[in-house]
Amino acid sequence: MSLLTEGASLADAYLQGRAGRPVNSTRGLDEFERWLGKLDLHAGTDPLRLARDTLEWMASCGVHSDHPRYFGLFNPPALVEGVLGDLIVGVVNPQLAVVEHAPVAAAIEKRLINEFGALIGWTRTVGHFTSGGSEANHTALLAALVRRYPQWAEAGVPRYDRRPGIYASEHAHLAWIKLARMAGLGADAVRLIPAANDLRMRAADLRRALNQEAALDPVLIVGTAGTTAHGAIDDLSELADVARDVGAHFHVDAAWAGAGLIVPELISRYAGIDRADSVTIDAHKWLAVPMGAGMYLAQDEAALARAFAVTTDYMPPSSTTLQPYVASIQWSRRFIGLKLFLALGSRGLDGYAITIRRQVAMGDMLRAALVADGWKICNHTWLPLICFCGTSADSQSIADDVVQSGEAWISTVALRGRPVLRACITSPDTGESEIERLVTALSKARERAQR
Ligand SMILES: Cc1ncc(COP(=O)(O)O)c(C=O)c1O
Repeated sequence: MSLLTEGASLADAYLQGRAGRPVNSTRGLDEFERWLGKLDLHAGTDPLRLARDTLEWMASCGVHSDHPRYFGLFNPPALVEGVLGDLIVGVVNPQLAVVEHAPVAAAIEKRLINEFGALIGWTRTVGHFTSGGSEANHTALLAALVRRYPQWAEAGVPRYDRRPGIYASEHAHLAWIKLARMAGLGADAVRLIPAANDLRMRAADLRRALNQEAALDPVLIVGTAGTTAHGAIDDLSELADVARDVGAHFHVDAAWAGAGLIVPELISRYAGIDRADSVTIDAHKWLAVPMGAGMYLAQDEAALARAFAVTTDYMPPSSTTLQPYVASIQWSRRFIGLKLFLALGSRGLDGYAITIRRQVAMGDMLRAALVADGWKICNHTWLPLICFCGTSADSQSIADDVVQSGEAWISTVALRGRPVLRACITSPDTGESEIERLVTALSKARERAQR
């Protein structure tokens, strides 16, 4: 048997054991470090044995976000079709820097980008696959800068009277802070607007902030469709109006919740997303392909061309196509889209819609079960992400207790200055019995905390 065939059997055996393993385990970590320290990297060893040992260590140490009772951040178990995609990409290893060198890969990615653009409501979409949401958001920021300041690509941010500003909800993903630094703007360029009681950023609050701060030039306005902590969807239509009025690039960060656009009856929940200049959707979140797979979807190809243009004679001569290496952050480029192509191409959008509907229903079930057990729900969203708290017990100690019990993995997030519990349905395998076990574990932890 070849190494790959034997390796595939190992991976399969890991999958079969998934639900039987604890969600969280730190057992053997010291022993692992000793094993790692003793490994002779000069002489080398048998690759299959090394792979088997490594897989066993990974199976026994760490948080298993692929477990059906993992209720954490959006890190679902990877669909096997996606895993197969990664295997094929590894074997063929096509280079997508230039379209002509990997025409099949380039055409597949283009088809997928167009398909997701169509779900947003666009007739024509440009964009590309990224390593994840952060890179897609980074691309949006660079596109915004080049659109606002025509000289930016050559001269950098000019010495304007008003410094470039990025406006987003206080609950937006904080990659924006890192990205502001990476673009040379500094974290102070980011304005996090207080959200309303339903945790959504509102146009009135954004306008107030814009009016109060004449020293900042609003280059980028970000609407979040599915905040990381609480699952809020900002009022995208209103935010699009504000962006138009002040001439800012309007980006919608739909990194995890954007997949909901696949479900026809959910599209109206994203009203206004079609008015975005660009959108982030991560395929490694709700679309459940292996990390890292994000998508930057946009309308303005010229902005990408201006932001990333460079000429060199060591790359093949450019054809009429805008080559990926001069239209995106990456240069050498992996065929990221194959894992999504195999997953989507085999399940179809209809298959994805069934899974997403079921996960939303499981979220409703968890919400109802928590209320019936005396918990108070603290966020307002139809997405399968529930923030909740008890009347007196300390949320953090309850979360710690549940995690230590090995029954489930949940976390806390800050809400209006205090920690609340957070549970998100991320796995398609999470069903009624997983929800019952979580609620029982929570109830026991609450009892212990109140003793
Ligand atoms: C709304 C949102 N945007 C962006 C990101 C960053 O995405 P990535 O981790 O793929 O870089 C996340 C990650 O959780 C997210 O939830």
